[in-house]
Amino acid sequence: MTIKVLQGKHIVLGVTGSIAAYKAVALASHLVQAGAVVDVIMTEAAMKLIQPLSFQAITHRQVQTDMFHLLAETEIGHVTLAKQADLLVIAPATANILARLAHGLADDMLSTTALATAAPILVAPAMETGMWENPATQENVARLKERGVVVVGPEPGYLASGASGLGRMTEPEALVEHIRMVLGARGDLAGRRLVVTAGGTHEPFDPVRFVGNHSSGKMGYALAEAARDRGAQVTLISGPTALTPPLGVNFTQVRTAQQMRDAVFAALPDADALIMAAAVADYRPVVAAEHKLKKTADSLILELQRNPDILAEVAQWQATSRPNLVVVGFAAESEDLIANAWAKLEKKRLDLIVANPVPETFGEDRSQAILINREGGMIQLDPLPKIDVAERILDRVSELIIDKGN
Ligand code: C5P
Repeated sequence: MTIKVLQGKHIVLGVTGSIAAYKAVALASHLVQAGAVVDVIMTEAAMKLIQPLSFQAITHRQVQTDMFHLLAETEIGHVTLAKQADLLVIAPATANILARLAHGLADDMLSTTALATAAPILVAPAMETGMWENPATQENVARLKERGVVVVGPEPGYLASGASGLGRMTEPEALVEHIRMVLGARGDLAGRRLVVTAGGTHEPFDPVRFVGNHSSGKMGYALAEAARDRGAQVTLISGPTALTPPLGVNFTQVRTAQQMRDAVFAALPDADALIMAAAVADYRPVVAAEHKLKKTADSLILELQRNPDILAEVAQWQATSRPNLVVVGFAAESEDLIANAWAKLEKKRLDLIVANPVPETFGEDRSQAILINREGGMIQLDPLPKIDVAERILDRVSELIIDKGN
């Protein structure tokens, strides 16, 4: 599946002579599948471990191995690649390449490209623990970080030698997340602070049981991920879900509506926008028993009481404290979708409401959303993957943040 922040981006992938070089094939594959254009540069040592053909087959582009090989007619390879690159990733990065980068050596295709490029550089070190911990390597890494090089890993775990320790290359999937963050850092939401809520809340009536709903959290998590990819600092406040929080977001786990309210208000003071994608339970049991309820009676009546309406409270707070905060709500409706969504937008004084028909969208990977703004403007989206719906919502949020004078 293509990923917007990677779509059409030119990534130069430097592969050096660590045994983790085979994992760089998977990394190249993930990047290509996500829509990036990947040019691989291999060092001499890398080619002793893995064939250029592996990368060539995946990237559909010629692998660069020789500094003196002209790319096309008279194009000088390292200069061309250095100019074209949106990002230079070196994965795996050996102690040797870290030392050469730190000292500005330029004696092969990869080191010359690294020296020539103005693109951001991300390195994923992989080596034996002793080499990593050696003061020489640590000094080189510190120097590279000072210059703005992003260093990801190494991770602890099993090493090629059979030993266990710090030195494993970060896994390709996690590297893709880091790459997305680096590429997104200059996106249209750079420097903006977004608070996103996700999932349903669980309202307990004894220590093991609760009243809840079918919300999967997928929409809120997609919003958090997409906002991060556009440079935002995201606080994701989530009820219980089966999802993994996206890398690089501030994550707050909550369970009940009251906990979610408290977490939202703790995050709001320096936020530019609040997106309430969570399906907050409107009611909670009056009593949460201390011990598990026994099935003695034939029927059980649960008495419920109203939960705080977080958005209604935010509207009140906002009127006096932060009129320029952008507030987005969701309306999951099984009937009169637009009329109900519009009524909610007015009542909760929202800037934008995302109307979803239920149960169709609950738990699904796709969503059929209608975006409605305060002026009554309406955008009906086709059924789209939630990550694409998230991008459309963020397009509006980005405009609203500016419109409200932030
Ligand atoms: O009123 P209703 O629950 O249908 O409104 C949905 C919107 O209000 C969602 O954005 C949801 O996150 C938010 N909400 C809330 N507090 C509640 C219930 C819903 O902020 N107690």
